[in-house]
Amino acid sequence: MSGWVQASAPGKVILVGEHFVVKGSRALAASIGLRVRVKARPLASWPARLSSPALGAEARLDGEGSLRGSSAFRQVPAIIEGLKRLGYEVKPFEAVVESELPPAAGLGSSAATSAALALALSALNGEPLSPGEVSRVAYEAEKVVHGRPSGVDNTIVSYGGGLVYRAGEPPRRLSLKLPPGTRLVIAHTGKSRATGELVARVLGNAEALWPAASLLYQASDRLVDIVIDALERGDAALLGKAFDLAHGMVSALGASSMEVELLVHKARSSGALGAKLTGAGGGGCVIAVVEEGRLESVVKALRLHSPWVRSVEIGAEGARLDRKA
Ligand code: PMV
Repeated sequence: MSGWVQASAPGKVILVGEHFVVKGSRALAASIGLRVRVKARPLASWPARLSSPALGAEARLDGEGSLRGSSAFRQVPAIIEGLKRLGYEVKPFEAVVESELPPAAGLGSSAATSAALALALSALNGEPLSPGEVSRVAYEAEKVVHGRPSGVDNTIVSYGGGLVYRAGEPPRRLSLKLPPGTRLVIAHTGKSRATGELVARVLGNAEALWPAASLLYQASDRLVDIVIDALERGDAALLGKAFDLAHGMVSALGASSMEVELLVHKARSSGALGAKLTGAGGGGCVIAVVEEGRLESVVKALRLHSPWVRSVEIGAEGARLDRKA
């Protein structure tokens, strides 16, 4: 393994405030204890080689920044550009991506991959990037993947911890952890989320009903403070109730689906303290706060209806170098 460096970055969930954040309310995001790991080593000549064995994806990148192969790597030229702008001379490399996160599920997989790759390539070609630099380079990459990213994903995966975000304001970082004796269970619906479509649907519904719906935006914004307070005081029951209310509000505006409702219902009926969709909705993932004593029954109930269920901590460390050359 000589010559290889390895960097990793965590995934994320939105704990409260998705969709409402699009029209000025705050959202609260947290890093999770599932990571994307990128191994990289120098090669003697271009093209650079990129692969993700789990996705069966491969690509080649020539010295001029042009990419051939899987679109899973379409953000890589932007990462190289970002590194060059910071003064790095990026030499030919091979990079291998391993991920504990499902793609296109709202768990920050693309931002975590970009952050880990940027950090690994910086270490291969000079001083490792600082978290702020990782975040800036990952933001450029997110633009390629998402068009107009909010900036939440690249920030949270780079710094880790928690983040309160309101459009147009610098995000406020805070350290977060779950109430003692609880875990966050994440279950995938098996459907990828359709962010653009869902954002348009929720906005349309909210605008049609604005004199009433605007109160939901205020309520969601207040719920951010309640969730932070519940986490700080370790009040698991309050956190569960806050999840249920958050889910009811985004669902009322059209962000849910039959698949999401099934998982939310199964989580609650098998013993979770509360459950909600996370991210855009429609498909993607559901999160539930669960006491450790109930973990087995909740995970078992969800596995009957979900292809991917994990129990995680929140507030995981941000992008880091795991192994130097
Ligand atoms: O599914 P995610 O994690 O990409 O989150 C989408 C969050 C929305 O509030 C629905 C959209 C946005 O840009 O904030």
